[in-house]
Amino acid sequence: MEPILSLDRMTVRSYLEEEAGSSLADDVLDGLTRPFKELPPKHFYDAHGAELFDRICDLPEYYPTRAEREILQLRSADIAQLTGAVELVELGSGTAAKTRVLLSALADAGTLARYVPFDVTETMVREVARTLLDEYEGLEVHGIVGDFERHLQHVPDPVPGEPRIVAFLGGTIGNFTPGSRRGFLRAMADLLGDGDHLLLGTDLVKDPAVLEAAYDDSAGVTAAFNRNVLTVLNRELDADFDPEAFDHVAFFDREHEWIEMRLRAQRRMVVPIRGLGLEVTFEAREEIRTEISAKFTPQRLEADLAAAGLELVELLTDPQERFALTLARRTPAAEDEVPRRRFAS
Ligand code: SAH
Ligand code: TRP
Repeated sequence: MEPILSLDRMTVRSYLEEEAGSSLADDVLDGLTRPFKELPPKHFYDAHGAELFDRICDLPEYYPTRAEREILQLRSADIAQLTGAVELVELGSGTAAKTRVLLSALADAGTLARYVPFDVTETMVREVARTLLDEYEGLEVHGIVGDFERHLQHVPDPVPGEPRIVAFLGGTIGNFTPGSRRGFLRAMADLLGDGDHLLLGTDLVKDPAVLEAAYDDSAGVTAAFNRNVLTVLNRELDADFDPEAFDHVAFFDREHEWIEMRLRAQRRMVVPIRGLGLEVTFEAREEIRTEISAKFTPQRLEADLAAAGLELVELLTDPQERFALTLARRTPAAEDEVPRRRFAS
């Protein structure tokens, strides 16, 4: 495939264009005709959504970004030493704001040669590729615009002798349902060769009031971010949602230990989605589930990693123990531990 952008030391490739919009159409048709309406979270992040998410990261209530940055600031030098990474592949890289802390540590250690940002939002991948090229002398950047649930095979194979870190930060792994989470961990494990590491950011279980405030801030930025998905549907699928007629709902589900985000119809509505030839009826107070954000305990984390063929190397937390960064590697393939029984001839 031809790169959409190619300069000395930098390429950006997109795997979205051939099927632009179709994944949204499928997801909306499937999600909004279910008995409990649902929309997958990747459609939050159009250009406006990405901007709103940036503002979420600066909110006083939204501690995960600051906690994760704190861990990176305290421990990136150790991570650089332990991994010796030449290459950093980052899934859901966004603006790569925190990533710079790690990139700088790898550059200081003298090992860094290549950064591979992977995100569904093309503008962000382009912008990150361009600015990092200027910020890090000699760095190669290979941007990938794609859906990490469908296009991970386009991440180049690891190069033997060039240690790689695959980073998945921001607690984005928590946005998968538990069933698909392990499958995705396994897919990330497949991007690792011998001597490579996964660096995984996860939010930790804590006081529900603190958790709920992080997803329902007083300035209403998270509410605007949540409603933005309806604006995306209006634009991309010629739908007729009135985003203001939906209330933002966020609560901590104590049984599943996840935050759930919903949009609740204020009244009965029939909404045409012309691009799909569909009319969707909402009863008064009917909800659309738009996101879950799972919160972890170290035990759950280790169990999920083990189920995906990964073993924990280091679990790093911020001083307040709000967030965890985990370094993991592939569990060495079990040798023939149990000697095969030989039949006497
Ligand atoms: N890593 C950043 C951003 C986290 S927000 C941080 O820690 O702050 C989640 C990011 O993942 C967004 O940039 C969003 O565009 C991207 N994303 C969400 N779903 C995606 C998908 N299915 N494929 C690729 N990127 C996705
Ligand atoms: N990965 C982030 C998280 O789970 C995404 C996120 C933060 C988010 N705030 C949100 C998603 C509000 C939807 C709505 O914390």
